[in-house]
Amino acid sequence: MNIEVLLTEAEIAHEFAEALEARDLPEKFFYWFPLSVRAWRELSQSEEHQPLNRAWNVIGEKAQSITRHFGKAVPVISFGAGDGSKDRALMQALRSAGRQVKYFPVDASQALLEIACADAEDDEIEVLGIKADISSPMHLMLASDAAESPKLFLMAGNTLGGFDPLEQVRHVADCLHAEDRLVIDGELYRPEALPAAAQTDAKKLAFAPLASIGVTEEDGQIRFEQKRDERHEGLYMITKRFHADRDLRVTVAAREIQMARGERIFMNFHYLYTPEAFRWLLEKKGGLEVLEQTLSPDGRFITAVCAKK
Ligand SMILES: C[S@@+](CC[C@H](N)C(=O)[O-])C[C@H]1O[C@@H](n2cnc3c(N)ncnc32)[C@H](O)[C@@H]1O
Repeated sequence: MNIEVLLTEAEIAHEFAEALEARDLPEKFFYWFPLSVRAWRELSQSEEHQPLNRAWNVIGEKAQSITRHFGKAVPVISFGAGDGSKDRALMQALRSAGRQVKYFPVDASQALLEIACADAEDDEIEVLGIKADISSPMHLMLASDAAESPKLFLMAGNTLGGFDPLEQVRHVADCLHAEDRLVIDGELYRPEALPAAAQTDAKKLAFAPLASIGVTEEDGQIRFEQKRDERHEGLYMITKRFHADRDLRVTVAAREIQMARGERIFMNFHYLYTPEAFRWLLEKKGGLEVLEQTLSPDGRFITAVCAKK
């Protein structure tokens, strides 16, 4: 198994301790610990998640036409690939059509990358995992240089919504050349998204980094909140905050960190969009042309096929 490392485990451990000191844990730490990996895989295979998995199966059926102008070879670069399960159907469809797929899953989670690489190898797809920080424009660029254009970029599982999408979409779009394509999804806003986000499997995922360093549910609780992002109509976010119910002392990367009762830790968030706001992000903030946009049958997710304008 080949994995190129732009972001080391030591760097992630150091960043985690710094983030905990700053009381602000970004998205990548929610998929890094073994407990997080287990919680994510349970959630992504749950009933709740099936409509999105089905939406990616539909994209798989269109993969041939999306990449028709590529020639025989199709390099697939997936930003925030996770265990690669959503990318897999698409690559299998391309392979069945006789295309030569080379897969580059990009992720900060070593454990998830290993699964993505192993599954691709099982499918006899040539694969090079890239362990990188996709919030870094430099890492995105280096990862996208792993293959020659034309290439197919994927960003699945509302991965864009785990970052500031106005910034992140620009950085992702900067990686595309004229003949490249990007398939990206987003979760749509609906009033009942907040209770769904706070259901048991999702709570487990949110709590996993803290549980991994010995914090228990008696030590405090996570509160979920839904907000509007006033920068543009149709942008919403679900935020999470941990509230300590008692004084805490944890040891992370050989550093002791104390937290007083009543303190809060800002945790990861995810964005939700109206269909119009999602299109606005891609076109106006990313400078992309939306070639095709599809709603999942249950109306919860949107996928777009994009090209550089
Ligand atoms: C919501 S999951 C989606 C995973 C996969 N695409 C899917 O749909 O099943 C987000 C993925 O992005 C990765 N991720 C989050 N922040 C990251 C960062 N800063 N750098 C690299 N990967 C990151 C996580 O490890 C996780 O695998």
